[in-house]
Amino acid sequence: MQLNRHVFTTSTAALLLATLILPFKSASAQTIPSLKDAFRKDFGIGTCLNNAQIDERDPKTTEFIARQFNMATPENIMKSALLHPKWDTYNFEMADKLVAFGKKHNIKINGHTLVWHSQLPPFIRGIKSPDSIRTFFTDHIKTVAGRYEGKVFSWDVVNEALNEDGSLRKSVFLQHLGDDYITEAFRLAQQAAPKTELYYNDYNNEQPKKRAGCIDIIKKIKAAGVRIDGVGIQGHWHVGKVPFADIEESILQYAALGVKVMFTELDIEVLPRNFQGADVGQRMTANEQSNPYVNGLPDAVQQQLAADYENLFKLFLKHKDKVTRVTFWGVNDGDSWLNGWPIRGRTNYPLLFDRNNQPKPAFEKVIALKK
Ligand code: XIL
Repeated sequence: MQLNRHVFTTSTAALLLATLILPFKSASAQTIPSLKDAFRKDFGIGTCLNNAQIDERDPKTTEFIARQFNMATPENIMKSALLHPKWDTYNFEMADKLVAFGKKHNIKINGHTLVWHSQLPPFIRGIKSPDSIRTFFTDHIKTVAGRYEGKVFSWDVVNEALNEDGSLRKSVFLQHLGDDYITEAFRLAQQAAPKTELYYNDYNNEQPKKRAGCIDIIKKIKAAGVRIDGVGIQGHWHVGKVPFADIEESILQYAALGVKVMFTELDIEVLPRNFQGADVGQRMTANEQSNPYVNGLPDAVQQQLAADYENLFKLFLKHKDKVTRVTFWGVNDGDSWLNGWPIRGRTNYPLLFDRNNQPKPAFEKVIALKK
């Protein structure tokens, strides 16, 4: 009897304590402030979405996404390798699901991407004739942009066409179609999707030389009488090294051309890296130092990450008349592509939510700007 009462009291006390502490330790999705609501009057807040999220495999994740974001970009499923696997075969299943997801949850979709040198269908490698490349290029843009007209809000028409020095990347498109292929892509997209916003998207295009190349592209498209609505700065940056001055200068210079400015794939990586940017073809070899935070992020790095995000959002707010969208490349740290690139199997912490969708100090700092 004595023993039983003891067990009863300790477990009741434990339960009471848990009820008191738990809400603070792990806030439920509904008690976490909403990013999209906080910045509603300033700019859109987006995320990329993967297959599991689009398929709504976990209702809690769906609820979390719908509460935090009002814009989304498919992480992979609208890339040509997935959408257009064979010369005359398209697979629209997942992309259609994404459109339905957006409609259901009031999330605007940014199509990503019509023309990119990476994640191309394998059959492209076998094509040697410029005519066939042109046929692929034209049919792909017309078919895809046409199908999603009125269904997606915008398109990254061309992705990553520039080298770091501002010259054009020697992609299969440049090699076979010549310098005008970018303008041509926008012309075709405009014809197929007259009501959809059309963007050029790249990484490191806040850096002066690459920015100059990007400005040339925008001017050239406009000079041809073709429409371009915005420019995307991907924003794959590194903790403690975010190039704030270049970012601000880029917002001003791009906006002066009359295009919207967006941050389209934001993440701030915390792991060692020996190069800057986001060239998916570039890889690093692992060594003993390359994955230091498997058991958690040291507080100093956590605070630096929070300060970087705070300063970035301060800058975005300062230029909210020019910045129309900020999209994170992932919902939480566990989703991030940076756990697998440029080295596979690392534990990275580049986003505002941890692996359990709990807000990190960076989230608190960003939200506090609106309080
Ligand atoms: C990445 C995806 O996140 C990965 O899942 C995929 O394996 C490779 O591509 N720039 C872009 C994005 O425009 O499409 C890339 O996404 C990241 C760099």
